[in-house]
Amino acid sequence: MKKIILTATAIVAAGAFMLTGCSSERGGTPADGGDSAEAAGFPADATIGVALPDKTSENWVLAGKLFTDGLEKAGFKADVQYAPASNTVAEQQNQIQAMVTGGAKVIIIGAKDGKQLTTQVQAAKDAGAYVIAYDRLIENTEAVDYYVAFDNFKVGQLQGQALLDGLAANAGHEAPYNIELFSGSPDDANSAVFFNGAMDVLQPKIDDGTLKVLSGQTEIAQTATDGWKAENAQRRMDSILTSTYSSAALDGVLSPNDTLARAVITSVQQAGKPVPVVTGQDSEVESVKSIMDGVQYSTINKDTTLLVEQAIKMVGQLQKGDDAEVNDTEQYDNGVKVVPAYLLDPVIVTKENAEEAYANVPSLLEIVKSYQ
Ligand code: BGC
Repeated sequence: MKKIILTATAIVAAGAFMLTGCSSERGGTPADGGDSAEAAGFPADATIGVALPDKTSENWVLAGKLFTDGLEKAGFKADVQYAPASNTVAEQQNQIQAMVTGGAKVIIIGAKDGKQLTTQVQAAKDAGAYVIAYDRLIENTEAVDYYVAFDNFKVGQLQGQALLDGLAANAGHEAPYNIELFSGSPDDANSAVFFNGAMDVLQPKIDDGTLKVLSGQTEIAQTATDGWKAENAQRRMDSILTSTYSSAALDGVLSPNDTLARAVITSVQQAGKPVPVVTGQDSEVESVKSIMDGVQYSTINKDTTLLVEQAIKMVGQLQKGDDAEVNDTEQYDNGVKVVPAYLLDPVIVTKENAEEAYANVPSLLEIVKSYQ
């Protein structure tokens, strides 16, 4: 998977491709050449199902509201469901099954566990519905037509680069720098992609001695945070501080998102140590404030409004009987097929560029401006 991603990233960097799938190119059938979905589209007031996971970060909360409003504005009936925090996988499976039974024509899924939806998405295909994986890939199934997300590998690369930049600017000494690595939940396909993207930048610096991971925990399994839960990251940071940093200084932490970044910062503060350079993702309100306060170093702007808009645009294209537009047909191998994807561009945010980065996000721009 890593190799495929690296190749595709190089191609993206060269600006060499922008595929716009259209029915004439691909014979008017769904991306997988499937014959179950209706090539002639579906009624303009059809029901569209949206199954979102539990609310582990602000972006999921916002997505639900944007899908409800956006789909209805586009003339569709929206059936938006969240899986509750407990029993999430089973509840999400039931919700998707109910959407299929209820006749949804497209089911957009932010998977809780992308490996455990094969039965439900197959049922969707068999019923003639399209399946779009939203933000998180759905794995090990032919029955997912499209993937819409921010470029996850690039998110990781930006986080790795931000860590290096932050260390050079703020560590207060020359290399080598002591860092620790955190990754997301193993049941989320994104976690490995974020981590591989970050390690694409960090591994050469570990190899040449610029960075040291004193805990020795550099394998993704050692760095994982079950359920993307803050308490799990905080507990791991507590234990690494105790075992490894009683005298050594911790200069930086790769954190895959804002929730975990704040957990890491809390752990370090409670241990009475200086806050290291900590990366993040999602532009959560508390983290944007922390960045402006000079505590958390960076986050990523993945504007949920744009991602939901793109997903709804794809629904509109499918409704007309066209293929949905994609711009990547190489990176996202789900174990059974390469899922055609539309990837949006993530933006790194630090205190320095926050005003520019949030120019189109009024609520965050207001926070940034309140610090000026
Ligand atoms: C999303 C991140 C989010 C994480 C936890 C990932 O799949 O891409 O934006 O921080 O899940 O909710």
